[in-house]
Amino acid sequence: MKVNGTPFRSLWWDQDAGALQIIDQRWLPHEFRIQQLNSLADYCTAITDMHVRGAPLIGATAAYGMAFALREDPSDSAMQAAYDQLHATRPTAINLRWALDRASAAMRPLTPTHRAEAALQLAHHIADEDVEINRRIGTHGLALIRAIAETKPAGEPVRLLTHCNAGWIATVDWGTATSPMYQAHDAGIPIHVWVDETRPRNQGALTAWELGSHGISHSYITDNAGGHLMQHGQVDMVITGTDRTTRAGDVCNKIGTYLKALAARDNGVPFYVALPSPTIDWTVSDGIAEIPIEDRPEHEITHVQGRAQHGIATVQVTPEGTPGGNPAFDVTPARLVTGLITERGICEASEAGLAGLFPDMAAR
Ligand code: MRU
Repeated sequence: MKVNGTPFRSLWWDQDAGALQIIDQRWLPHEFRIQQLNSLADYCTAITDMHVRGAPLIGATAAYGMAFALREDPSDSAMQAAYDQLHATRPTAINLRWALDRASAAMRPLTPTHRAEAALQLAHHIADEDVEINRRIGTHGLALIRAIAETKPAGEPVRLLTHCNAGWIATVDWGTATSPMYQAHDAGIPIHVWVDETRPRNQGALTAWELGSHGISHSYITDNAGGHLMQHGQVDMVITGTDRTTRAGDVCNKIGTYLKALAARDNGVPFYVALPSPTIDWTVSDGIAEIPIEDRPEHEITHVQGRAQHGIATVQVTPEGTPGGNPAFDVTPARLVTGLITERGICEASEAGLAGLFPDMAAR
């Protein structure tokens, strides 16, 4: 996608520097800053402290992190140490483990001298594959939006609601939940997107920045507004992303997603989840019981960051000493999900639905 007219991916390999460049998302939407990652510690901090974020982007970054580590030391023990350090950065998004498992399975049979280059090529492949997966999710999601548009008087927008940022900066490009939005807009279908603020990190502001840059009509709303809008017929469809989806179709996504799904069900609003196949955890079935939910620092709740008169500032919103609680994700049971939009098509959120589209993966 473009930033001020220049095409960008959310990460890219700088051949001259021999290093990965990322968009440091902590400063968006106010400042567009690029960061070069120069050590394995840089990679780990970038993921833990959310310079990069979003399940697919975390996975791609970890793949490059593994390549970086193997360039420093390609031995079995160094590979395991890099795996462990990168894996410990964030617990919920399964793409992290998926990318690390894929890299170590591919590198283990190679002699150490061949590992660094092979791991870098694999990281490039994972990044390119992510772009293609998301492009295809967009094509399938576009069909859903088009079908709604055809039921409306000409020119009336399809009103979509999304939570968190499942946009191009949460992936390598296109985004998952936003890919159908970009493709619908580019196809000339009028849409309007209700963008949930998504406290505490306000990833909705990132979504607003993305949609605004692409000329897509949108409104930034509080996290509590969605139910009201649905009761008043203001939402035609909800599309969210996911950080981990179980083989039974339970969806773990940014905290607050579950409440949107409940409101959608109560109001007969279709609730779709954009799901790249690397985000399926085929090893778990019961999302509520089995998915580890990241507990993030209290200061993310007690303080907010924004643009002030003289630059970006952080202010405290609670009385001094107020304890905070910050579970970062929740699980939406499969029964509340209308459908999963994957790169291979749309399926029911169920074991049969996922296995029907991905028989090769389900059987492993
Ligand atoms: O904590 P974050 O910002 O990494 O959480 C991101 C989300 O919850 C996204 O919705 C999810 O990763 C899907 S991104 C395509």
